[in-house]
Amino acid sequence: MARLLRTGLPFLLVWVAVVWASHVRTNLLNVCMDAKHHKEKPGPEDKLHEQCSPWKDNACCSVNTSQEAHKDISYLYKFNWDHCGKMAPECKKHFIQDTCLYECSPNLGPWIHKVDQSWRQERILNVPLCKEDCQNWWKDCRTSYTCKSNWHKGWNWSSGYNQCPKEATCHPFEFFFPTPAALCSNVWSDSYIISKYSRGSGRCIQMWFDPAYGNPNEKVARFYAEAMSGTGLPRAWSFPLSLVLVLLCLLC
Ligand SMILES: *[C@@H]1O[C@H](CO)[C@@H](O)[C@H](O)[C@H]1NC(C)=O
Ligand SMILES: *[C@@H]1O[C@H](CO)[C@@H](O)[C@H](O)[C@H]1NC(C)=O
Repeated sequence: MARLLRTGLPFLLVWVAVVWASHVRTNLLNVCMDAKHHKEKPGPEDKLHEQCSPWKDNACCSVNTSQEAHKDISYLYKFNWDHCGKMAPECKKHFIQDTCLYECSPNLGPWIHKVDQSWRQERILNVPLCKEDCQNWWKDCRTSYTCKSNWHKGWNWSSGYNQCPKEATCHPFEFFFPTPAALCSNVWSDSYIISKYSRGSGRCIQMWFDPAYGNPNEKVARFYAEAMSGTGLPRAWSFPLSLVLVLLCLLC
């Protein structure tokens, strides 16, 4: 019995670790964050509105959320895009797409972190946005104006929606966001980071995609989940390996 424990226990521990590691990986895939409007679990939503419709096969957003995502000062966050005069429509469409990605994507698991905020329990941090998505967002917003570089903090909310605080003056976007990288990182306190990879590479998250070819971000999430969960063991290996280890345990 003592011998069995001495030789069997290490194997058992390795087996538990392997099974646990693959469990961690599946926890990062096909999940919704615990935030203000997200569904508990992803699922189909046939009627997702306009720019959010690419996610209709599998979404973390409800139809209501997808409709609200297209409105100014919507019920979602009462956010006022037009805080320095009217935001250009070509700029606004990127913020709507950003809202759709944030609310609807079930592929952001590898970048979800716990937070202690009154309005959400989890957030995304450093999601690698494909460089073209970030560059086009910045380029289309160059003619619009803003008064701040971090849009999460420091607004005057006294009228129920965000207004520029007294000391902040409006300037063209470029004044606060000199580069595409600055826009993507700073606007939502590091929710995104510009990726060095391009759309279609399978190594960066696409804010825009054609659902006719499926959701390209599924593959991206799987890649980063495996890279992040430490063991470096490809998923296909963990089950056969755990079987072998169990057999070894039984034999010893
Ligand atoms: C979404 O739901 C909220 C809360 O129930 C409601 O106030 C809002 O009008 C709804 N929006 C749409 C577009 O149905
Ligand atoms: C906040 O906005 C209100 C209403 O527009 C204004 O009266 C007040 O002076 C503003 N406060 C600051 C600190 O900007």
